Amino acid sequence: MVARRLPFWPLLRVLHRALRIGLWAEMKPLLRDRLFPVKISATKEEHSSAAALFHMATGYWVSQAIYVAAKLGIADLLKDGPQSYVILAARTGADAPSLFRLMRALASVGVFSHVGEDCFALSRLAESLLTDAPASLRAMVITIGEIHYQACGNLLHSVQTGAPAFNNLFGTNLFDYLRQNAAAGEAFNQGMTDLSSLLAYALLIAYDFSGVSSIVDVGGGEGELLRKILELNPRMVGAVLDMPSTIEKVHQELNGKARIGPCSYIAGDFFDSVPEGADAYLLAGVIHDWDDDRAKTILRNCRRAMAEGGKVLVVDMVVPKNGAKSFSKLLDLNMLVMTGGRERTEAEFRTLLDASGYELTRIIPTLAPQSIIEAVPKSTRYA
Ligand SMILES: C[S@@+](CC[C@H](N)C(=O)[O-])C[C@H]1O[C@@H](n2cnc3c(N)ncnc32)[C@H](O)[C@@H]1O
Repeated sequence: MVARRLPFWPLLRVLHRALRIGLWAEMKPLLRDRLFPVKISATKEEHSSAAALFHMATGYWVSQAIYVAAKLGIADLLKDGPQSYVILAARTGADAPSLFRLMRALASVGVFSHVGEDCFALSRLAESLLTDAPASLRAMVITIGEIHYQACGNLLHSVQTGAPAFNNLFGTNLFDYLRQNAAAGEAFNQGMTDLSSLLAYALLIAYDFSGVSSIVDVGGGEGELLRKILELNPRMVGAVLDMPSTIEKVHQELNGKARIGPCSYIAGDFFDSVPEGADAYLLAGVIHDWDDDRAKTILRNCRRAMAEGGKVLVVDMVVPKNGAKSFSKLLDLNMLVMTGGRERTEAEFRTLLDASGYELTRIIPTLAPQSIIEAVPKSTRYA
């Protein structure tokens, strides 16, 4: 277990409010199982053998097998107990002998359990593939197994040209593709929404929002992250800005309303402008989608729109020094192929923020892999 120092007051405030409004039941298992990083140990020899390299090179066998199980909804069919592969095949329309081989392979790596000769059951890992599990990974695994997997299969193109493999493969950029392909758009948005509760709790524990009275979640998707922040900070009002296709879906779910309680949902393009007058602009998983020029446009639009004394809160991973192991270095490749974006080091964030008219004030690590990079407009800091 990696020990990290947590700021005491935000933690206490969040836990107290979560208990009071009944959110604690959802929060507790997520904090215990998902946010606290677990150390996976292996000896140096195991890591450096040819077998280890072969294991890495065949990693997509496992990732695609998990994807197929997620797509077929196998975990949901095992919710009430073990089932034979013949029944699973009949209920998913799959070829029974091939489904047996899929399930046997997944059970061999701990995803599902093999029970008796021909039955399979949920394992702890497979529980995350349940559609209704808190912070379910099912939709995220589907989006990874479909569009991310195909783009990554074209990684060579990105490394040779510097351009996103996604565009080369699909003939358009990621967000236009998601807009034009309803099923892909839904899986992507649902995947982001499912992970938002986890991220929200990590942010709420790490950051004291008590001084913020209004906030805009720029590129906030379907709004789950902001809803959680507002639930635990009842004096704050907020707005989610996202593309019209995403916001229209939220409006439909709200029976045509554009606002519910303290949260409004606004359709727009963050390259043109963002809603004015808030004192915090949250950019969670947004800046890493873009190259420096596009990222500067978004940051400058936030700067222009913010109230006096406002700030931006960029939520992204911070790439550690060369040589250090970090998931951010692999995610960086994913951004290269998907959008032409990038993960950034602290120095790169400083330079980007400086060029966009900000001074980086703090980098606050959270229990999640992302940090909060707080920055204020340069002129107001010295005014
Ligand atoms: C990687 S997702 C992050 C979603 C959310 N912030 C979260 O953490 O779950 C990026 C978001 O940016 C939105 N987006 C992309 N281009 C946009 C644009 N030009 N204007 C507004 N939103 C945009 C996408 O629809 C998507 O919801």
